[in-house]
Amino acid sequence: MIIALIVAAGRGERLGAGRPKAFVEVAGRPMFQWSVDAMSGVDGMDRIVLALPPGTRAPVGVIAVDGGAARSDSVRRALAAVEPEGPGDVVVVHDAARPLVTGELIEAVLGVLAGDPSLDAAIAAVPVADTVKRVAPAPSPPDAGRADRGSEGAGIVVETLDRAGLWAVQTPQVFRRPALERALDAPAEVLAQATDDAWLLERLGGRVAVVAGPAENLKVTTELDLELAELLLTRREQP
Ligand code: CTP
Ligand code: MG
Repeated sequence: MIIALIVAAGRGERLGAGRPKAFVEVAGRPMFQWSVDAMSGVDGMDRIVLALPPGTRAPVGVIAVDGGAARSDSVRRALAAVEPEGPGDVVVVHDAARPLVTGELIEAVLGVLAGDPSLDAAIAAVPVADTVKRVAPAPSPPDAGRADRGSEGAGIVVETLDRAGLWAVQTPQVFRRPALERALDAPAEVLAQATDDAWLLERLGGRVAVVAGPAENLKVTTELDLELAELLLTRREQP
């Protein structure tokens, strides 16, 4: 059985749209609907579960659950909504904040997991294009908060990471269900720290394959991302 879990229960604070991010309209549909539609189009998809902010209305055709305080709580609650069928069950976890996901990408990630029995998971990612540095935050000066702080830097460089071999990870992330269940069975403070589910599995020594995804599968975090997503989805919809 293949199950899709779409997590859409975040508040969208960085976007600041005044309502949950997943309900913001993008190219004529609520943001989460793009992901639901992409999952529905995948061959062999048996169930789609959507984790939503409590008190919001669920769309038809999906199993809706209330999300939790942290992203991994939402994943856990969504997974709990579907009884396991057998050890071969596969779970696709996806952020509703990535409305540009396609059926093609989901199938590619599923295909990599299905093709290698030694794998516990397969995740979409893109090679990092920018040079990445680790920066120590600048200590707050005694006059912090004064209006003339504009010339201060954000911090001091500690090291420059070797860009070769660095990948920025996306969703979809596809797991063998027993491996995902083990990964999610972590202490609350570890779950709260997790920004993706694959990390929870890596901690336990799980084997996770990376599948090159399109850069277009961006995550809507800020207003700029929303504008880009709107442009790209509008273009995709044109005949
Ligand atoms: N998410 C969730 N439950 C939470 C937190 C996040 O289901 N408690 C989901 C979001 O809805 C989103 C995905 O996880 O689809 C990635 O999270 P993020 O981009 O950080 O979204 P938000 O938490 O909504 O945004 P922000 O951090 O700016 O508030
Ligand atoms: Mg968040």
